[in-house]
Amino acid sequence: MSALLPLKNKKIILGITGSIAAYKACVLCRLLIKNGADVQVVMTPSACKLVGRDTLAALSGHPVPCDIFEDAGKIGHIAISKDADIAVVAPATAQTIAKLAHGFADNMLTAGLLAATCPIAIAPAMNVNMFRNQATQENLRILSRRGYYVMRPASGSLACGDTGEGRMPEPEDIMGFILSILNGSHAQRIGFEGRGALPSPKSPAELGQTRLLPRASGAGLKVIVTAGPTAEAIDPVRFITNRSSGRMGYAIAQAARERGASVVLISGPTALEAPEGVTRINVRSALDMLQAVEDNLAGCSVFIGCAAVSDYRCETIADQKISGREKGQTMTLKLVKNPDIAATVGKLEHGRPFTVGFAAETINGEEHAKAKLEEKNLDMIAMNYVNSTTQGFGSGSNELFVYDRDGLAAHLPLQSKQALAGELCDMIFTKAADGEKA
Ligand code: C5P
Repeated sequence: MSALLPLKNKKIILGITGSIAAYKACVLCRLLIKNGADVQVVMTPSACKLVGRDTLAALSGHPVPCDIFEDAGKIGHIAISKDADIAVVAPATAQTIAKLAHGFADNMLTAGLLAATCPIAIAPAMNVNMFRNQATQENLRILSRRGYYVMRPASGSLACGDTGEGRMPEPEDIMGFILSILNGSHAQRIGFEGRGALPSPKSPAELGQTRLLPRASGAGLKVIVTAGPTAEAIDPVRFITNRSSGRMGYAIAQAARERGASVVLISGPTALEAPEGVTRINVRSALDMLQAVEDNLAGCSVFIGCAAVSDYRCETIADQKISGREKGQTMTLKLVKNPDIAATVGKLEHGRPFTVGFAAETINGEEHAKAKLEEKNLDMIAMNYVNSTTQGFGSGSNELFVYDRDGLAAHLPLQSKQALAGELCDMIFTKAADGEKA
């Protein structure tokens, strides 16, 4: 079992600074350890006021240094990052970002990171205006140019009451980001010639810079995304469904919106909140999903079928709850095939949008994905394997193989679904624009 742990034998420095999101760092610490990492936590004095040092020491199994003088002799700032595979600062405040950008070394974290030679990732978390402030943006650019990996904060309601960009990403997304750095996988693309295409990056500095490239714009595009499972009723209280969480589709809807597209998210039952600025239409069955897609197709430029649509539905749905007393030792449900929504869109004769599908596979992924691309008349298909604990259904991270009519267009290695969604939207919007020009 432990052989499958993706962070086995990895030493990770977890820097925690004084943002209210510091409490989420406890969950992140647990998650990293659960996935096999040896975690050395370092806290700033402000972080110590928000979460207990003893809590993090107990969670990580190591003393937690904070103040250079107080902790001198126990653990030196040079020793902290020795042998570390990666350091991650989550949450990273505007204050610590500014200190890192300008070489301050006034506490154990800033001094330790100044001496670090391992890759460093930061997850900014602060008020939206502090984040947008030019000082913070310039400091982030400085760090990015120097090879730091800067994660985009999430959007939503902030602890201060404001709404916007500035939330610390969820611990699972941060773990996915860390995995993508350790796997050396940022912007690794095969044969993709669109905007943002880069040669395989060689140094941390190059990798850092890849995140600063202009993103493909979705401005003026109407994008439909289907997401989540469908639920096919058996009777008024029972239904057939699957394990899809909807996270990949919601991340794509958010990434498309962040790139300026107008986004309609047609979602089966999930526990997720709609991303800001996205129109969500809730459906349950495959037939409802198809209807909602058809109702919204007018003016649609890009269709992304990410939903795990049930292939079959019950031929008849019982009006009343099927009583246990009526049931024998066996029960037969007659199922009939559902329409294929992605294929319906892919085969439209008029007003056909650039059409993207997904393929969740357990074996022979490439072969199955290429066959689906052909059969459904898609422009692009993103294939992932779903027989692993670290990716696919329900997980915060994923790895995608993207195929188009010319074959493999990109391999987007294991990383957070949020980061993947951004890369995928950049590819889709660039390809869709190329198609329009042609
Ligand atoms: O054939 P398979 O179900 O694996 O194909 C997956 C792709 O097709 C996904 O993009 C999914 O959203 C779409 N699909 C659909 N309608 C169905 C079945 C699958 O849109 N009835």
